Amino acid sequence: MAARLAIPLPVLDDGPQRPVHAQGPRSLSAVRMLRISLTDRCNLRCRYCMPEEGVSFVPKEHLLDVDSIVEIAGVAHGFGVRHFKLTGGEPTLRSDLSEVVKGLRALPGVDISMTTNGIHLPRLIRPLHDAGLNRLTISIDSLRPDRYREITGGGRLERVIEGFEAAASVFGPPKLNVVAMRGVNDDEFLDFARFAIRHDSTVRFIEFMPLGESTLADVDPSTVLVTAEEMIEVLSVTLGRLEPLEFGADPGVGPARLFACPGGRGRIGFIHAMSRPFCETCNRLRLTATGTLRSCLFDGGEVELAPLLGSGDEVIRDAFARCTAFKPEVHRGRGERAMSSIGG
Ligand code: 5AD
Ligand code: SF4
Repeated sequence: MAARLAIPLPVLDDGPQRPVHAQGPRSLSAVRMLRISLTDRCNLRCRYCMPEEGVSFVPKEHLLDVDSIVEIAGVAHGFGVRHFKLTGGEPTLRSDLSEVVKGLRALPGVDISMTTNGIHLPRLIRPLHDAGLNRLTISIDSLRPDRYREITGGGRLERVIEGFEAAASVFGPPKLNVVAMRGVNDDEFLDFARFAIRHDSTVRFIEFMPLGESTLADVDPSTVLVTAEEMIEVLSVTLGRLEPLEFGADPGVGPARLFACPGGRGRIGFIHAMSRPFCETCNRLRLTATGTLRSCLFDGGEVELAPLLGSGDEVIRDAFARCTAFKPEVHRGRGERAMSSIGG
């Protein structure tokens, strides 16, 4: 990518440095989750994810097909991965989405989840359930229709709420992902917490990450960032003390720091990748829609798997090991590819 005037974001707290030993997150045995992007396309244009205009997508014929995805997932399963997360772009734009789920379901003992903007869920939720999907997360950055439309470049909030309800009736209440942005939705944290309490769901606030060529790419990211600490402070004033839940209480081995809401209904999570990077415990790899394996959201560290398809498990497993070894000690403050092209 051409050099740009990137404004470096101070990493506020590097966290503990990763000890150098064989079983650390740079070893295959530490990998627990593979996030699989099914397409880089999306029916929305969230400001923090995409530019307003001129988005270019990969041609459809370059996307991995179902058999290739299942072949790669099968190798990951062979070295112990049991969690697969389908992402995008928007994964529901793939017409063979249920086939992917069925293919993964054939691997013994796997947990299959999906992150979606929720808009197509009412018509897809039954087939997805029947194909063997276990859980889903809905991305929703405002509970106010006008603001939602503004953030997503035209999305209709009521469609997402319908998607949430359809999902809840089949799977139980889905998790919500909310990207916290100062001056955009920082007056809604409490509304989201109350939504989680009302539906006994989990809302996870994600610190804004400067990735790729989004509409926010030229804004100083530290002016957008709201740290998890700040959100906890704000929420505690009204809700009272948030009860920390044990690490791992979140099905799906995610990186969120989770709290129970007072009263026993609803959970609040924080994904503090900017203010407190959690690279030393990172247990995931990402597969792009075109078959590139990526070790880190920010720093890249990529290995091409597509040319290795059909060469046998050992060859693909070796590529996984090479990719895992690229994992950074602590990620840089800015990444050059958007979440939609990496697989969120
Ligand atoms: N910063 C923070 N979160 C992001 N997401 C997409 N791009 C960014 C970004 N730049 C979120 C999506 C989705 C999740 C996978 O990541 O909203 O919920
Ligand atoms: Fe689409 Fe998700 Fe990006 Fe929004 S954040 S534009 S829903 S891929």
